[in-house]
Amino acid sequence: MIIAKKISKQIQLASHSVEILHETTICARPGEFLSIIGPSGSGKTTLLNCLSGLMMPSSGEVYIDGQCIQRLSAGKLAQLRRTVISTIFQSYNLLPALNVLDNVVLPLRLNHQRISKSEVKTLLNGLNFKADLNQFPNQLSGGEQQKVAIARTLVMHAQVIFADEPTGALDLISRQVIFQQLRALAEQGVCIIMVTHDVEQAAHTGRALILNDGRIISEVKHPSVDQLFAQMDTIRG
Ligand SMILES: Nc1ncnc2c1ncn2[C@@H]1O[C@H](COP(=O)(O)OP(=O)(O)OP(=O)(O)O)[C@@H](O)[C@H]1O
Ligand SMILES: [Mg+2]
Repeated sequence: MIIAKKISKQIQLASHSVEILHETTICARPGEFLSIIGPSGSGKTTLLNCLSGLMMPSSGEVYIDGQCIQRLSAGKLAQLRRTVISTIFQSYNLLPALNVLDNVVLPLRLNHQRISKSEVKTLLNGLNFKADLNQFPNQLSGGEQQKVAIARTLVMHAQVIFADEPTGALDLISRQVIFQQLRALAEQGVCIIMVTHDVEQAAHTGRALILNDGRIISEVKHPSVDQLFAQMDTIRG
């Protein structure tokens, strides 16, 4: 479903360039729940952005649903991203001028898809969202905004979900509710690639990739909490 072959990303700064992702290779299949963990600044968001076609790697190749994104026109890539992929952004990316309902249904509107207000209500209820659908993002708490961002992703019924710390702002109960929903989607065949700082959550995914300094330093199948803490310890030295 998602294949990255030796992707690197360099960023040009004023006086020099820095490499923030180094020859990373990843393969994720339908129904897989993959987690990516690593220290702040290790390149997790950059990796997710390259895998989802939001950002082009400086070298290497990314395939989404069998298509090499670097060989697609901007229009075709945008269409592929709109139909196959859905992303929960670390910074939510809600539109401030739109209320909760309009934020959630925005991807459907862009795809000219049918919009069901009751489906949105059910979706938000299932996420334990208690605020009003007419409220605007600046009238919501951080956790509520995160739930709106999650609902906007789930409403797409995409084949691949990229989630960048999707439960970072949430209380324990909401965190568990949302994590269980992502797991259920993976069981239904959705490919989920999730960045998390939560080792307990990562230990409940099928495979964990540990990233440090823009490199995957190890990959653990059916990881345990102890294994992941041990990996993080090797980074701390
Ligand atoms: N546009 C940019 N220009 C310069 N440096 C950048 C840019 N984007 C990212 N970086 C740098 O690349 C590194 C990786 O950033 P990234 O956001 O991918 O980290 P992260 O692992 O997601 O961190 P966090 O856990 O804090 O979200 C960081 O050192 C960051 O400062
Ligand atoms: Mg990040």
